[in-house]
Amino acid sequence: MSRLKILITGSNGLLGQKLIYGLRNNNQIELIATARGENRVSEKTGYVFESMDLTDAAIVKSILESHKPDCIIHTAAMTNVDACELDPDACELQNVTSVKNLLAGCTTSHPHFIDISTDFVFNGEAGPYKEEDEVAPLSVYARSKVEAEKLVMNSGLKWAILRTMIIYGVTDDEQRSNVIIWTKNSIEQGKEITVITDQFRGPTLAEDLADACIQAALRKAEGIYHVSGREVMAIIDISIEVAAFFELDKNFIKPITTASLNQPAKRPLRTGFIISKAERDLGYKPHSLKEGIAIIADQLRKQGRI
Ligand SMILES: NC(=O)c1ccc[n+]([C@@H]2O[C@H](COP(=O)([O-])OP(=O)(O)OC[C@H]3O[C@@H](n4cnc5c(N)ncnc54)[C@H](OP(=O)(O)O)[C@@H]3O)[C@@H](O)[C@H]2O)c1
Repeated sequence: MSRLKILITGSNGLLGQKLIYGLRNNNQIELIATARGENRVSEKTGYVFESMDLTDAAIVKSILESHKPDCIIHTAAMTNVDACELDPDACELQNVTSVKNLLAGCTTSHPHFIDISTDFVFNGEAGPYKEEDEVAPLSVYARSKVEAEKLVMNSGLKWAILRTMIIYGVTDDEQRSNVIIWTKNSIEQGKEITVITDQFRGPTLAEDLADACIQAALRKAEGIYHVSGREVMAIIDISIEVAAFFELDKNFIKPITTASLNQPAKRPLRTGFIISKAERDLGYKPHSLKEGIAIIADQLRKQGRI
């Protein structure tokens, strides 16, 4: 039986790295990992790597035409929400033009296209959200992700869109921080951190999201899926949970409201997802935050970082 050929974009990113580790030794799958520049993942075997900057239409077309994947998992994006707000052209290029280039390169192989999107497509006034809820993006980043979703939906390909939020995990290259690592490192270095009290999200373990992507590929899932952790909590409570787990002093965590933080990009206050569709169709079973932090601690220990 021929193996399912999966091409992933953004393989140096947090989700991208977890997909490589989840797929590279799966004998049902032939994996092509692609990223901008060099491969920064430590394990280099069990898959083919191609350097592919998604903003270069000619490169994208030639790589897609030479590999003819059965499935594309598109994880790459400009993910810094404030940077997107300050540079809308760069955001449009990375998050929208890149998708146009990918779709334009799919004319010969018609792959199943799995796009990763965000809770930020919603305005945060009516969370937790289900897949059919109306989108109402508040920022440049959020509008770019909605635009990308529409391109995928209208592509004529079989598609799935997995929306997620506040992904946490450990990468090989220590380049990618997140609320867990940031809280731990800051307190350990004796630095006070100010953490938001009035934004509520469901933190998502990167491995859980990668598993959902893999199941969506294997099961050829179609439509929108909400994929996040089950617990919806204030961001400050995530930091408090991290401090408790690593037995760090919670007094370093100082509360701040969204209004007083005054970040360039507007954020939805209360999102959270109803994840029953992903549980039913993808067999999705997310870890609790406590379990997720324990998994991270284990990985940091193995990397000699604690
Ligand atoms: N992180 C979150 O909390 C969160 C929440 C909701 C949704 N999402 C979505 O989930 C997906 C994965 O997020 P993540 O946390 O894994 O992101 P990430 O760690 O920031 O990784 C994104 C990757 O995309 C790559 N990339 C950007 N522009 C590219 C281009 N032109 N060509 C090729 N690669 C390019 C980046 O490359 P470099 O490494 O070279 O910069 C980076 O490795 C994204 O679509 C994001 O919008 C993330």
